Amino acid sequence: MTNQMNTEALLPHSKKIWAVGGGKGGVGKSLVSANVAICLALMGNKVVAVDLDLGGANLHTCLGLPIPQVTLSDYVSKKISNFEDLLVPTPINNLKIISGAQDELGMANLKHMHKNQIISKLGDLDADYILFDLGAGTAFNTIDFFITADKGILVVLPEPTSIENTYRFIKSVFYRRLKMVEGVADLEDMITESLNAKVTSGGGSSPADLVKKITEMNPEVGLRIKAEMAHFRPNLIINQVRSQADIDIGYSIQSICRRYFGIEMTFPGYLDYDQSVWQSVRKRKPLLIEYPNSKLVNNFDRIVHRLIEY
Ligand SMILES: Nc1ncnc2c1ncn2[C@@H]1O[C@H](COP(=O)(O)OP(=O)(O)OP(=O)(O)O)[C@@H](O)[C@H]1O
Ligand SMILES: [Mg+2]
Repeated sequence: MTNQMNTEALLPHSKKIWAVGGGKGGVGKSLVSANVAICLALMGNKVVAVDLDLGGANLHTCLGLPIPQVTLSDYVSKKISNFEDLLVPTPINNLKIISGAQDELGMANLKHMHKNQIISKLGDLDADYILFDLGAGTAFNTIDFFITADKGILVVLPEPTSIENTYRFIKSVFYRRLKMVEGVADLEDMITESLNAKVTSGGGSSPADLVKKITEMNPEVGLRIKAEMAHFRPNLIINQVRSQADIDIGYSIQSICRRYFGIEMTFPGYLDYDQSVWQSVRKRKPLLIEYPNSKLVNNFDRIVHRLIEY
């Protein structure tokens, strides 16, 4: 049985899990997780924000909290046996957090069993929304948490390295999802060849071309892949925007993903570059609460309303 089937069976569907990732470090994943969580909580939802940046947890800083006394690593090491004891209240009504590890636990070291156990426990929490703040990179477990969520959010900066990392992240999720499809295991060589092809090589070596080739060879498997990828609709947020050209990068990424991966991406909005972000981080106060007149209040409001709609 595939991992995805495992996790789907573990999670009750009334809960909405949103995962925030993005490949590159320092692009604003924790900022987005914290403030989307605050918006949802202010709207009257019960929200839990979970710091899954194991090894470099800092979600608490964006929420104006001191380093939490209890973290996921205490649960993994069995120091804490009751998962609910990991919930830390925040100054915001309806919003609690579960902190990631401050120590060497690391996403790469999280065992499959622990991961499934954590996903299952998160599914049991009494919450309307659960936000996953993922760490940087494309570690296997990070990709798995992203796939488990009902909604995937990708934070991108309008700069080449961040954009490249976003494609790398999408590519990892694409192939991970592809390998979950029944009947695909027999096509291992073809997939490995496509996976190793350079993005720039062109000439029929894109993931979309691979799906086309598979469909020609085996229409039944091709249809299953298309059904799987129809669920892969990441939501893009461009952060630290300074011009219309920066915003337009969102539309280019959308159209490149349609052509190259054959996936539909949504673009719920962007966040302006704003001094109040680092000021709030330095003051250790939540941005939306401390700077209610910041441009980001409107930015987040629009993004959250669109995310709820999509
Ligand atoms: N819209 C913005 N305007 C100004 N500065 C910003 C903005 N977004 C992020 N920053 C700056 O970038 C820093 C990094 O943001 P954040 O910690 O949310 O990134 P991250 O993706 O979670 O990083 P990591 O991968 O290390 O977990 C913030 O502390 C802030 O100084
Ligand atoms: Mg972070």
